Amino acid sequence: MRSTTAIPSSAIASARGLVKTYGKGDTAVQALAGIDVDFTRGELTAIMGPSGSGKSTLMHCMAGLDTVTSGSVVIDGEDVGRMNQRQLTKLRRTRLGFIFQAFNLVPTLTAAENITLPLDIARRPVDRAHFEAIVAAVRLETRLHHRPSELSGGQQQRVACARALVAKPAVIFADEPTGNLDSRSSAELLGFLRRSVDDLGQSVVMVTHDPRVATYAHRVLFLADGRLVGEIINPTQASVLEVLGRLDATPATDAGDDSGVLAPIGF
Ligand SMILES: Nc1ncnc2c1ncn2[C@@H]1O[C@H](COP(=O)(O)OP(=O)(O)O)[C@@H](O)[C@H]1O
Ligand SMILES: [Mg+2]
Repeated sequence: MRSTTAIPSSAIASARGLVKTYGKGDTAVQALAGIDVDFTRGELTAIMGPSGSGKSTLMHCMAGLDTVTSGSVVIDGEDVGRMNQRQLTKLRRTRLGFIFQAFNLVPTLTAAENITLPLDIARRPVDRAHFEAIVAAVRLETRLHHRPSELSGGQQQRVACARALVAKPAVIFADEPTGNLDSRSSAELLGFLRRSVDDLGQSVVMVTHDPRVATYAHRVLFLADGRLVGEIINPTQASVLEVLGRLDATPATDAGDDSGVLAPIGF
């Protein structure tokens, strides 16, 4: 069933009645239990919630990386559920940017080649001025001809960030983008992501479990058990911690995919 709530024109990405169930029968897991959400154009939105609350699933379903069980997803006015595989691939290549915790760079390509890879695959020309502006912003000018193994973690994630931005996507989806970075590299990357929103009008949706990371967002959405349960506009570390504290009243053993990641600062 499709929800009839209209999608506001201010939304760059929206979901209505989004349900995602993994598996069948007794072993079925409902990762998303009916989500209505609008991600605002030209904003940095953070998604937070306990481990296993559905953050990554929401991002994957929004980005067409995973199929939905029911409900609809609209990206920049286009109904993702109505797209065939070819259209979905085109959407991902031309309208979306991705940054993951693992940097996902191609080891045999240089930094410059990794950055332009989405455009090269889509056989689209590289806007050199835009490329140079992004490379300067992430301070990779002297590292362009190095391969990922010759770069630090922070530099590799800046390459991934530049790669996400270079095609001028409608929206960038980032899942724990600073999860493998030290605090200084994290602050640099987040500052850059936020400036890409404030200065270039980029729209960014970012999953994080870290309250300090969430303070870079304009708005934070909170998930619990596959449902949207809260929202903070202009978050501070204190306001984020306060909501997380209420959600996390029964701390889980945290066996999800976040295991091995440092505990959130302030916990
Ligand atoms: N591929 C999958 N197969 C089965 N269950 C999954 C799969 N991916 C996620 N889940 C389950 O869905 C729920 C939400 O997971 P996830 O979206 O990864 O949470 P989060 O990112 O908030 O930690 C969890 O219970 C998780 O175990
Ligand atoms: Mg996750």
